Amino acid sequence: MQIPIAHPIIGDEEVAAVSAVLKSGMLAQGEKVAEFERAFADLCGTTHAIATNNGTSALHAALLAAEIGYGDEVIVPSFSFIATASCVSMCGAIPIFCDVDEQTYNIDPLQIEERITPKTKAVIGVHLFGQPFDIQEVQQICQEHNLIQIEDAAQAHGALFNSERVGGFGHFGCFSFYATKNMITGEGGMVTTNEKAMVERLRQIINHGQIEKYLHTRLGYNYRMTDIAAAIGLVQLKKLEKFNRRRRKNAEFFNENIRCKGLITPKEMDGVNHVYHQYVIRLTEEFPMKRSELIDYLNTKGISTAIHYPLPIHRQPMYNLHNDPDPCPISTKLASSVLSLPVHPMLDGKELTYICDVINKVV
Ligand SMILES: Cc1ncc(COP(=O)(O)O)c(C=O)c1O
Repeated sequence: MQIPIAHPIIGDEEVAAVSAVLKSGMLAQGEKVAEFERAFADLCGTTHAIATNNGTSALHAALLAAEIGYGDEVIVPSFSFIATASCVSMCGAIPIFCDVDEQTYNIDPLQIEERITPKTKAVIGVHLFGQPFDIQEVQQICQEHNLIQIEDAAQAHGALFNSERVGGFGHFGCFSFYATKNMITGEGGMVTTNEKAMVERLRQIINHGQIEKYLHTRLGYNYRMTDIAAAIGLVQLKKLEKFNRRRRKNAEFFNENIRCKGLITPKEMDGVNHVYHQYVIRLTEEFPMKRSELIDYLNTKGISTAIHYPLPIHRQPMYNLHNDPDPCPISTKLASSVLSLPVHPMLDGKELTYICDVINKVV
């Protein structure tokens, strides 16, 4: 039996909620989406939440609402999922890659300022793997330079920064409900905001630029969430705290029990509540195996792993920035040394102990 890296948890309540929507005849966007938006805004403590069909469209819509377009520059961390940067390119704007902090894997605020030019319009910080980035520092830089701040919270539903939920600190928070996330709708996304002026704009952008039936005042997209997805999201939202608690407990167990020379376990920073979308270890030169060998070894022992992410975004063929010196050396180093272990809420005590035992036997 293989221990999977992710395990979507769908119970009878989700099945019943979807079934009720299917029987209602409203399969597209209706009351369930509105209810999910209100409940999600409540979770994040924001005045508004606008549901989308995925996390990438949430980011794209937020950038468009902020009027980011051709030639504008947006600072993004290079160590993230591609969508953090590709959403900028989708607007015709230019992602400017910033390096990350070696301990938290999150955007390094000290390096943001040196990348600001007269063309800079926004900064996207990512709460990578479920750990909030240093929001306070980034917020201060954005305020000083009059920049839009976007939180890419695709991996951090319910995470806390200074006792407050992520998603409400920047001008926009953008979430994903993809099937492996901490809470899921299959595919789905959400933009959270406290900016009332942005709400109508966002609603138009995600619905063909429509202001009334068949009247279109701007270029828009079909980025709408369905009631089917929202029905799942409403049930999942009620379980989020429990899911996150389990993830944190599993991570704590690994932190205490993985005792292997040459492996660095994740560090939770002061003042944050990490929700461990991924539990990411790092191999140092002291570790006696190559990463590929460790992956194969764990695989033969029935433990699935994943690499998040094998290439920093600036080195992706799509951007192909091979400047010398490397503008994001930490991101490049992390990409070649990180490994994600299963941390999902379905792991039981025996599996947690087994994973630690197998790893600890390497040296
Ligand atoms: C950090 C980050 N940003 C954005 C996204 C995009 O979300 P989606 O896959 O729902 O489009 C993801 C999804 O994996 C992500 O991890």
